[in-house]
Amino acid sequence: MRTIKIFDTTLRDGEQSPGASMNVGEKLELAKQLARLGVDVIEAGFAIASPGDFEAIKTIGGEVEGPVICSLARAKEEDIKRAWEALKDVPEKRIHTFHSTSDIHLKYQFRIDREEALKRSVRMVKLAKSFVDDVEFSPMDATRTDTGYLCDVIEAVIEAGALTVNIPDTVGYSIPVEFGALIKSIRDRVKNIDRAVISVHCHNDLGLATSNSLSAVLNGAGQIECTINGIGERAGNCSMEEVVMALRTRRDIFNADTNINTEKIMRSSRLVTKITGMSVQPNKAIVGANAFAHESGIHQDGLLKEKSTYEIIRPETIGLHKTKFVLGKHSGRHAFRTRLVELGHTLNDEEINSAFKRFKRIADHKKEIFDEDLEALVSDEFTMVPEIYSLIDLNISSGTKQKPTATLKLKVNEETIEKTEHGDGPVDAVFKSITSITDTKSKLLKYEVKAITGGTDALGEVVCSIEEDDRSVSGHGADTDIIIASAKAYINALNKLAARKK
Ligand code: KIV
Ligand code: ZN
Repeated sequence: MRTIKIFDTTLRDGEQSPGASMNVGEKLELAKQLARLGVDVIEAGFAIASPGDFEAIKTIGGEVEGPVICSLARAKEEDIKRAWEALKDVPEKRIHTFHSTSDIHLKYQFRIDREEALKRSVRMVKLAKSFVDDVEFSPMDATRTDTGYLCDVIEAVIEAGALTVNIPDTVGYSIPVEFGALIKSIRDRVKNIDRAVISVHCHNDLGLATSNSLSAVLNGAGQIECTINGIGERAGNCSMEEVVMALRTRRDIFNADTNINTEKIMRSSRLVTKITGMSVQPNKAIVGANAFAHESGIHQDGLLKEKSTYEIIRPETIGLHKTKFVLGKHSGRHAFRTRLVELGHTLNDEEINSAFKRFKRIADHKKEIFDEDLEALVSDEFTMVPEIYSLIDLNISSGTKQKPTATLKLKVNEETIEKTEHGDGPVDAVFKSITSITDTKSKLLKYEVKAITGGTDALGEVVCSIEEDDRSVSGHGADTDIIIASAKAYINALNKLAARKK
């Protein structure tokens, strides 16, 4: 049984999804979750791309134990030096450098010939190797590169010291039978291939990223690059949960598995949604809301008789527990903390106190507090930003014969400001009041509301994305009252925007 390494690039390629940018605190929180999940490598960012990316790599490298921490770098001296600066104090580190190799890229984008691209790649792998032992090289657009030339580049970079050679299907063009054959050709033709791990990095433009990655495993790939929920550039990257669960469920075919603690999958997926504001489609494999829902009577009948009739994965395997009553309004801080620890959250005293206060407020309104409610509640602690704006009071009136009106009191720095506004609906009226108090110029890109657990007393979760001056952020709010949750989400987004501006 082979162990396939999971190289998670949610924080780098995943962040390249439009609107998915994350701040350093959010990246750190996600990196900690990736470590709990058991990924082998975290690509924490692209050090030269921005000061925020640099800071994130450094911070994650200093605080997250377990996985190797990696920075991306173009095959350029300044990129590699910047990656090294971000990584130098990190115990387990990797530099991942890349250069295009396809004629299309070399001719139109770089305006250099194949020989020059090969020389640059080798030179930069050697430079990276002078800083760290663990160097990965990617021939970008590999699947549209002449195979003979691709093999020459791979052989040369291994000779220069690359320990991992990553084969990217950069534009998501390949199909499984072809991609598998390419990996086989590389194994057959590159003389020193046994000195490196073959990795694959598939994009999902034709919806084939997971299939292509699995086909590569069947042909000898030892590392898969992927993202949680499959987020990433354009149609996204290979989805971590899909590829991991395919390997686990069909070990009989792949004779391979990963180090992933699959019970942490659901929580990781929810955290990514919360932080990026990118929801998962309901019918998405493994983590979609309907992935374990059975509608047809025939299926339900079979399931009641024997689960394996229509269920190939037990929901518990990915951390999807049947919602169960755990806490109520009489529960104390101790029980609250204990349950959070059982769910995998380690909050400090200050975070516990603040989450506990909100728990009590919710427990006053809601009879049963489910695990999912607790997850939503504490995730607010993880995505905390300095609060310039905080909600003091909100009053709504609306009805069939009444114009929706919101009177909202907000603390702005140390001042309390109150405004009353009308709107097309109560949420609109609330947003107008907040806009008027904060005088924000931001544009609302997205507003989404969902119920976390069933029932009319469910905790409502709101995610909204706003944009100003090309900066986009998403805010999150949870409350039994969706109007309050909406206000919280908008205020959270405005606080993040203010922090980003600073
Ligand atoms: O898609 C791609 O080619 C990449 C490389 C940087 C590996 O993301
Ligand atoms: Zn990519």
